[in-house]
Amino acid sequence: MGGPEGVIVVREFDRNKDLWGVEDVERRCEVGPSGKLSLFTDLLGDPICRVRNSPAFLMLVAEMGKEKEIVGMIRGSIKTATCGKKLCRNAKTNANKNEHIKHVPVYTKLAYILGLRVSPSHRRMGIGFMLVRRMEEWFRENGAEYSYMATDNDNLASVTLFTQKCGYSKFRTPSILVNPVFAHRVPISSRVSVICLDPSEAEILYRRRFSTTEFFPRDIDSVLNNKLSLGTFLAVPRGTFTAESFPGSDRFLSDPPESWAVLSVWNCKDVFALEVRGASYVRRTLAKTTRMVDRAFPWLHLPSVPELFKPFGLHFMYGIGGEGPDAVKLVKALCGYAHNLAKACGCGVVATEVSSREPLRLGIPHWKKLSCAEDLWGMKRLGEGYSEGSVGDWTKSKPGLSIFVDPREI
Ligand SMILES: CC(C)(COP(=O)(O)OP(=O)(O)OC[C@H]1O[C@@H](n2cnc3c(N)ncnc32)[C@H](O)[C@@H]1OP(=O)(O)O)[C@@H](O)C(=O)NCCC(=O)NCCS
Repeated sequence: MGGPEGVIVVREFDRNKDLWGVEDVERRCEVGPSGKLSLFTDLLGDPICRVRNSPAFLMLVAEMGKEKEIVGMIRGSIKTATCGKKLCRNAKTNANKNEHIKHVPVYTKLAYILGLRVSPSHRRMGIGFMLVRRMEEWFRENGAEYSYMATDNDNLASVTLFTQKCGYSKFRTPSILVNPVFAHRVPISSRVSVICLDPSEAEILYRRRFSTTEFFPRDIDSVLNNKLSLGTFLAVPRGTFTAESFPGSDRFLSDPPESWAVLSVWNCKDVFALEVRGASYVRRTLAKTTRMVDRAFPWLHLPSVPELFKPFGLHFMYGIGGEGPDAVKLVKALCGYAHNLAKACGCGVVATEVSSREPLRLGIPHWKKLSCAEDLWGMKRLGEGYSEGSVGDWTKSKPGLSIFVDPREI
């Protein structure tokens, strides 16, 4: 095969010798279309940080010439996640009970590609393609059935590389919703009680209600027990339950209030920092002014833009769900609660990612300017030898209303 393979060596990342080279490429790579605002990532000295919480992970680097210059890298992870659902055997006996009892999840071994970067001075030489191919070899060796990746719909290089060269199909287009952390606390409706669930109660709730949601990780317990998981919060109408009277998730779900909502918070701030670049002088000054006004008159509750032009930290809300006519309002209250937690932790923004069809997204406050309406998820089936099972080829399945975005893959 032609291309750069004669001079390029792809091998596993070695922290001792590659740290500087990898950070240098990362610094020079903007993610996002040029000419607009773009986002830079500072991995705080740990290039593997964005995959290391997954059950299996690998980082590869591309090294060039005699100088052994690092010119590209890619990260990948593998886990078991839900790709669909099927009727459970005793569905008939449960027919009169809750809808959720009738289905059980179908799991698959799912690989994820992220953090692909090629140094701007070495692009269009086939290095990105080579890195993806080598990562997919590792996925196959480890039994992964599907591989997926996420990219900004406007990122022509990445979209073309994955869809036209590597065989990924455009699978889902969820939205990344980002809200700045203001200088004031967000008031929470007095008609809502927020209960903090311990990880074991959160696990029961998630497994019972969300395990059939696409991308739900089978090892949800390791997500919830990870030190980066800051907690799971349940919102109920005031007067139904309090932290003291909460009967445990099993009993709660057997007889839930008419409406309830849940979300969990993940601390990305300790994993990486982000920075917005390319903002015009006017925009920066505007942001600064609103910040000063906010500090001077906090009682006005003016929204103010945090300092996004210096590196800032992020909290990620995941596992957002709920039921009942007031679920959207309860989600809104939970987002307010998460905002206040992020403020206490010194974060610049709170973000989440939800399906484009997610009904609860109406309750998630966000700024359009900071958000991404269509994050493109590409999906590929890695082998043809797998049984079709009850789901068939997942890449051809219709999207559900919700997806479960694993915070380990942010
Ligand atoms: C996306 C990226 C990794 C591609 O790396 P690369 O080494 O230049 O890609 P390759 O040379 O292997 O390109 C393979 C194919 O991808 C497509 N492609 C790559 N860059 C492209 C571009 N700028 N415009 C259109 N298609 C492009 C082409 O089909 C190309 O094949 P061809 O050269 O035979 O036409 C690189 O542009 C990059 O680091 N971008 C910034 C970070 C980023 O956006 N990462 C992706 C996040 S998922």
